[in-house]
Amino acid sequence: MNERNVGLIAHGGAGKWRPGSDDDAVEGLRAAVEKGRAVLLAGGSALDAVCATVVTLEDNPIFNAGTGAVLNFDGFCELDASVMASDGARVGAVAALQRVKNPILVARKVMEETDHVMLAGEGAQRFARVMGFGDHDPVTPDRQADWKDKREHVGDILGAGALKMRKFLKDHPEYAGGTVGAAAVDAKGVLAAATSTGGVTLKLVGRVGDSPIPGAGNYANAHMAASATGTGEFVMRSLAARDIAERMERGATLEAAMGEVLDRLGREYDADVGLIAVDRNGHPVARHRTRDMPHAYFHGTEAITSKMRV
Ligand code: GLY
Repeated sequence: MNERNVGLIAHGGAGKWRPGSDDDAVEGLRAAVEKGRAVLLAGGSALDAVCATVVTLEDNPIFNAGTGAVLNFDGFCELDASVMASDGARVGAVAALQRVKNPILVARKVMEETDHVMLAGEGAQRFARVMGFGDHDPVTPDRQADWKDKREHVGDILGAGALKMRKFLKDHPEYAGGTVGAAAVDAKGVLAAATSTGGVTLKLVGRVGDSPIPGAGNYANAHMAASATGTGEFVMRSLAARDIAERMERGATLEAAMGEVLDRLGREYDADVGLIAVDRNGHPVARHRTRDMPHAYFHGTEAITSKMRV
């Protein structure tokens, strides 16, 4: 086994973490990466490693994915998730999925058990039940209280053309943050990425973000695996994850490619986003345009590093 080239990086969302929750977020990332690291160091696949990492983050209610996801305008969770592996460009995704515990595992089932790439809404939920995923309400009391507060102030937030919403999210990026994601390479050189989210608070019912869109919020090919976070509309417009891959196909290093993509996101959209990725040698890179993006990573036989910002 080529232990020196395995690597994994995970994020807990680009934004601004509330004072007091910083340590929990960094610790949550470390614990999640520990799960993925154990898979890789035991000779497991990058796909298993990113799924183990993201399941741990989905089950941690401080992150905006799975249990503890943010609520939409009507007060319930619609979950987006996707997985992708570089061998055979395998990909599976779910969008606007309700009432499951681990949307990332449903996305993986779409990849492994169907001829489709993405299932959405009611159909995704029906598929999840057939695959044995039980009913689970991801709404937590904290998220519900948060939602009530925001609904009461919605008049102040929304204005003509929702320009105020844009300004509000820019001033308070903690409202949009908390998506989770992981990218890894295993000892066989296969790369995989997984991303899961509740989307953005007060989103319209049916809104789908970047996380389940291959090439936007999640992507893996022979050069790299990446997961994006932040306001998904910018990530979808820019196809950020695929843009990193294309720059690497033209010869850029992962570090340079991510720097260029983040610069473009700033120049063209002033976007509140973050990115994590690994290259095929397991080298992990994190970049963000927000104040915070809790993340953790390891490479080869190194110990795990976890921190709130780059
Ligand atoms: N990046 C997560 C979302 O916008 O849905």
